Amino acid sequence: MKSIDIEAKWHKEAVKATGLTKVYPNGTVALKDVSVSVYSDDFCVVIGLSGAGKSSMLRCMNRLIRPTSGHVSLFGEDVTNVNGSQLKQVRRRVGMIFQQFNLVRRLTVLENVLVGRLRFNAGPFSRCMSMLRQFPKQERELAFDCLQQVGIGDLAFRRADALSGGQQQRVAIARALAQEPEVFLADEPIASLDPRSSETVMQILSRIHEEKGIPVMVNLHHIDFAQRYGKRILGMSKGELIFDGTSRDLDAESVSRIYGDKAEEALEELSAA
Ligand SMILES: Nc1ncnc2c1ncn2[C@@H]1O[C@H](COP(=O)(O)OP(=O)(O)OP(=O)(O)O)[C@@H](O)[C@H]1O
Ligand SMILES: [Mg+2]
Repeated sequence: MKSIDIEAKWHKEAVKATGLTKVYPNGTVALKDVSVSVYSDDFCVVIGLSGAGKSSMLRCMNRLIRPTSGHVSLFGEDVTNVNGSQLKQVRRRVGMIFQQFNLVRRLTVLENVLVGRLRFNAGPFSRCMSMLRQFPKQERELAFDCLQQVGIGDLAFRRADALSGGQQQRVAIARALAQEPEVFLADEPIASLDPRSSETVMQILSRIHEEKGIPVMVNLHHIDFAQRYGKRILGMSKGELIFDGTSRDLDAESVSRIYGDKAEEALEELSAA
């Protein structure tokens, strides 16, 4: 009986997209009837050519944008049409990581993490105190702990704009961690980083997933990283989901379907990895 409970817990749908279609105001059809679930035990990587619809899918999932049709649910709760405070709750439950880090450059690393947390958890008084840079001890300790988890506790008092790209992305991950999210969605988190920092950032995301059991979905350009880190790989092409399998299932034929006339480059990247 117990094993069934464990199975049920780990195979819960963290994010479920059903029949997602996104048509932008200029008429571009970015997603065409995409249905996919991200499970509690997933570390999945989404690959595809530029313009395939990866970001649009992720943005619909955390409701940065609203799908034109279809549904999104978060741990069983339909969030397709939520607004106001309910939408804020969705954003709190989903840890987002972007290519451009989105830090407040003039604040310290620790303050960036604290401000990120207050954005979701605090009332007006705390927000006012945060403007004066006064944070409760408990909050500071939690933020510091998150920085240590990504290996940059020693940078807590540096200004964010004095860090390298890789370090800034680690601050962004710590900020997302401090919000105690139920799922992580990352849109090209390593696209602006050198290979070494890219490796570190992917290792950190993997470790958070393994140690904390948080499901992760990452959009990536690099197929070699996708193959090495993705427990599950989703392939998109022209707004459709055309591949869903493990990295072992990602054979030359699947790569061709996903990457079209760029398949040769992708296969070279894979064989060099
Ligand atoms: N705000 C927007 N307005 C109009 N069209 C958009 C908008 N955002 C994206 N698109 C278009 O929607 C399609 C899918 O874009 P999307 O950004 O989701 O692709 P992507 O797979 O993330 O690409 P990339 O790898 O370059 O990030 C593309 O044709 C893109 O030009
Ligand atoms: Mg994108």
